[in-house]
Amino acid sequence: MFRRQILKSIGVAGLALATGISAASAQEVVKVGLILPMTGPSASTGRQIEAGVRLWMAQNGTTVAGKKIELIIKDDTGAADQSKRLATELVVNDKVAFLAGFGLTPLALAVGPVASQAKVPAVIMAAGTSTIVASSPYFVRTSFTLPQNTAPMAQWSAANGIKTVVTLVSDYGPGLDSEKAFKAEFEGKGGKVLETLRAPLMNPEFAAFLQKAKDLKPDALFLFVPSGQGASLMKQVGERELAKAGIKIIGTGDVTDDDQLNGMGDALIGMITSHNYSAAHDSPENKAYVAAFLKANNNMRPNFMSVGGFDGMAAIYKALEKTKGDTDGTKLVEAMKGLAWVSPRGPMSIDATTRDITQNVYVREVKKVDGQLYNVEFATIANVKGSN
Ligand code: DHB
Repeated sequence: MFRRQILKSIGVAGLALATGISAASAQEVVKVGLILPMTGPSASTGRQIEAGVRLWMAQNGTTVAGKKIELIIKDDTGAADQSKRLATELVVNDKVAFLAGFGLTPLALAVGPVASQAKVPAVIMAAGTSTIVASSPYFVRTSFTLPQNTAPMAQWSAANGIKTVVTLVSDYGPGLDSEKAFKAEFEGKGGKVLETLRAPLMNPEFAAFLQKAKDLKPDALFLFVPSGQGASLMKQVGERELAKAGIKIIGTGDVTDDDQLNGMGDALIGMITSHNYSAAHDSPENKAYVAAFLKANNNMRPNFMSVGGFDGMAAIYKALEKTKGDTDGTKLVEAMKGLAWVSPRGPMSIDATTRDITQNVYVREVKKVDGQLYNVEFATIANVKGSN
């Protein structure tokens, strides 16, 4: 009775107007649940990825295929049980169409079963252990893998007079991947790995390992630690005076991370690393990226984690465009297979079979450019697959 009175008082024109307004304001929302370590030892990874994701959205708008993109950011503090709990909440309560982020390998692995069960795509923007993507059919990767980033360093070493190497890596997935890839590639080219040293991931104390490496007198010491630990490792390398003992320091670009490199000091000048991204990458896309990133983030320099976030968001937008806004998870993963575009890092694609990233890997040297330390690329290995 009451309802009929209201309808009558609004009248037909008013009703149509009201319906029109509600249709417009109810533009369908597509939620992206971003799970990152925003606090704790890997907080720099979270900060860089969030900034990359936000820059993509600022430059490309928040409407894709007629749908409004809404970002929900959750801090897992770097703890795998939290990543899993947050992924479950995002799927069940928030009904996200995408999960994304995952700052460390164990955090990504914890989310895989949630993505599989809910059939929700999970875009890996950071973690780099090669086997992660195969652990769920809903994983897609826009970061890198350690075998991908390591092999060029071994090739360069073998081709540049280095005969013996000691490796020192963080004792978990990506470190073990890196150690294995270096040894296989280097020994395949006639070199010898004298010792494989592994430091704990949490609160590492490198001194004893560095002393051991020094005592073995290799031509070079190869290093891998995750983003955020490079500065402390390189400080201890400097204190042990390995360079003075004639040992060349080499590694993956995780060690000479752009997030910390400029504060590490001139002792790093000349250090050779291999990696998928440098803030000094010489391309129009990267020059525009770095300038916009610095401006949006109070002069924070973008590192390799930031492009994992930026390109992860690119993959999400491109997938939604391909499905014309359909948020069925299986269709979205299908849409991401085979995507290819030019990133600030250079050309990249999502392998249609493995869902892993194919990208260029660069060999770089630490140089001073305009008073700042950068990883300056001098050789390119094109289109390296992330996993097979
Ligand atoms: C991983 C994390 C990092 O910060 C990094 O630089 C490489 C790999 C990882 O946990 O997979």
